[in-house]
Amino acid sequence: MGTEKDPQFVKFRGIVKKYGDVTAVAKMDLDIPEGALVTLLGPSGCGKTTLLRMLAGLEEPTEGDIIVNGNRINDTPIHKRNLGMIFQNYALFPHKSIFDNVAFGLKYRSVSRDQIREKVKHALEVVRLPGVENRKPAQLSGGQQQRIALARAIVIEPDVLLMDEPLSALDENLREDMRREIDNLQRMLGVTTIFVTHDQREALSMSDKIVVMRDGLKLQEGDPETVYNKPANHFVADFLGHSNFLPGEVVGQDDENVRVRIETGDVLLARHRGSWKQGDAVELVVRAQRFEAHRQSHFQPTEGMNSFAGRIKDKSYMGGEVSYFIELPSGREIHVISMMRTRTYDYGDEVSVQVAPYHCHLIGREPEE
Ligand SMILES: Nc1ncnc2c1ncn2[C@@H]1O[C@H](COP(=O)(O)OP(=O)(O)O)[C@@H](O)[C@H]1O
Ligand SMILES: [Mg+2]
Repeated sequence: MGTEKDPQFVKFRGIVKKYGDVTAVAKMDLDIPEGALVTLLGPSGCGKTTLLRMLAGLEEPTEGDIIVNGNRINDTPIHKRNLGMIFQNYALFPHKSIFDNVAFGLKYRSVSRDQIREKVKHALEVVRLPGVENRKPAQLSGGQQQRIALARAIVIEPDVLLMDEPLSALDENLREDMRREIDNLQRMLGVTTIFVTHDQREALSMSDKIVVMRDGLKLQEGDPETVYNKPANHFVADFLGHSNFLPGEVVGQDDENVRVRIETGDVLLARHRGSWKQGDAVELVVRAQRFEAHRQSHFQPTEGMNSFAGRIKDKSYMGGEVSYFIELPSGREIHVISMMRTRTYDYGDEVSVQVAPYHCHLIGREPEE
């Protein structure tokens, strides 16, 4: 018999969680590869926390199996699961010293006092706060307290690190620093990590894999580039990045591109990904950064590029870039984010909008909700 190791360290199989009539998690199948940082991304209420709590043993699944390192753990009590957990509110014990806070997770393990001292010291070094053992949480900043929570989670050398929106209590700048720090630390330790967030930038910047969720369902999973550039549906495209949606109909295709007639009557080319046939109702998804606006009077379309006419309806200056809302002859508005280069446009300017077929992604049009 082969003893090949399953690269999937954590597996959710057919997991359902119901609270009365509310289905918090619906038939979830999910694999977490060993050593990876996987992000659960989705709006509030989509079931992210519930999924983590079931893995942690704080909730029981209504149906399904949870497997860690080859073992079904549904019936394993919390303290035997060896998981490190960090939550939004760091939940340090305010009256205990930092030492006692970090050592807390070791309390119920057979670890000698000397070993505890050594492990706490090491964990504080890892989170780059050496020597704070005797302080109280209130004597540390918010960011430092969050690092203590991190030290407490890793001191037990967990099989899996669970982080539930750990950065949302921090302010913007600090959040960015902590995000990089968690990312580096996770890679250094190589610990399998599930990171929950509703912030797409957090998810895109640190994940090996992103799982986009809505209403207790997994809508798409993949590495950040795939999920961002090849969204499977409207919700995912809308949730990640500034997306424009142009409804249209497939009118033809060749090996490279699909031809789509949009509401204005213009026929645009979209790079072939997936299988489409003539007459399909589709949406053409284009990121706001991918459109280029050109002054109409001077404009010569570039060979192989899509172009169509519009008029500047609104603009806002955002420092490094300008955000335009451009009205098409059909009345639909598109959002264009332009890096400040040579010129800017004003209200009422007639423009030609250009976009490469490569940056046009097709998804099926869903019935109106
Ligand atoms: N203890 C509970 N009792 C009843 N409903 C709950 C409970 N916990 C979560 N829910 C419901 O389950 C759904 C998913 O919640 P949650 O997992 O907290 O979502 P998220 O973490 O993605 O914001 C929500 O509709 C929420 O109201
Ligand atoms: Mg939550």
